[in-house]
Amino acid sequence: MPETIISIKNIHTGYQNQKVLDNVSLNINSNDFIGVIGPNGGGKTTLVKSILGSVPLWSGEITLNIKKSEIGYLPQTNDFDKQFPIIVGDVILSGLSGKKGIWKRYLNNDITKAQELAEQAGISDIFKKPIGKLSGGQMQRALLCRALINEPKLLILDEPGTYVDSKFEMKLYDWLADLNKNMAILMISHDLGTISSKVKTIACVNKHLHYHESNKITAEQLAHYECPIQIITHGEVPHQVLAKHKH
Ligand SMILES: Nc1ncnc2c1ncn2[C@@H]1O[C@H](COP(=O)(O)OP(=O)(O)OP(=O)(O)O)[C@@H](O)[C@H]1O
Ligand SMILES: [Mg+2]
Repeated sequence: MPETIISIKNIHTGYQNQKVLDNVSLNINSNDFIGVIGPNGGGKTTLVKSILGSVPLWSGEITLNIKKSEIGYLPQTNDFDKQFPIIVGDVILSGLSGKKGIWKRYLNNDITKAQELAEQAGISDIFKKPIGKLSGGQMQRALLCRALINEPKLLILDEPGTYVDSKFEMKLYDWLADLNKNMAILMISHDLGTISSKVKTIACVNKHLHYHESNKITAEQLAHYECPIQIITHGEVPHQVLAKHKH
């Protein structure tokens, strides 16, 4: 039986006096694969940061029934200092710090796990490369491995397709489908095609949150939910997602 691992209840939050999320509620269950869509600035990343506790709530409540260290997070942008003299393997292993404390030395098992993840992410050849010399896509793959090394119960991906090439992107979604057997996934994406074929349910975030119990959503619903950007940017939106208008 799936359990509720995160419960978001009537939250309001934002920055200074700008309200970004208005009365947002969402339950995340252990077997969920939720796709989050919405226009730029709609509050998707803010929602994720609220879950992680890095954006304080103005009101409402978020209950975590898992430990924070059981959440794996691939941020939309990363503030890893590229001058910092560490290699890809270290970046991946740093995902274990929540569990072990930063001063703990890594076990051989951990290193093997990091290498296996790097293999799956197609970056094993650069395992020892300094991060200052990585491309954007390579860095994103390393950070994905970092998010996974702790075997999280919830994996949060903020626009994972942004930097990686389309070949890896396809591989990534197969990988995610496999991971979803053991963990919940919350994935923000602008690509409705991806959303429709890979996720189980959809949340539209544009100040408010509208939840759909399926991965099919009509153009009328999108418009009604103030999620117009997808309609505009995806002229040829897959019909699985945007059911045809009834004229
Ligand atoms: N640290 C911050 N300080 C002040 N305002 C912020 C901050 N982060 C985000 N905002 C504002 O909050 C609003 C929501 O931003 P957020 O990053 O959550 O949107 P998003 O849906 O993730 O957009 P995108 O699709 O562009 O990633 C925007 O108006 C943004 O300018
Ligand atoms: Mg964002």
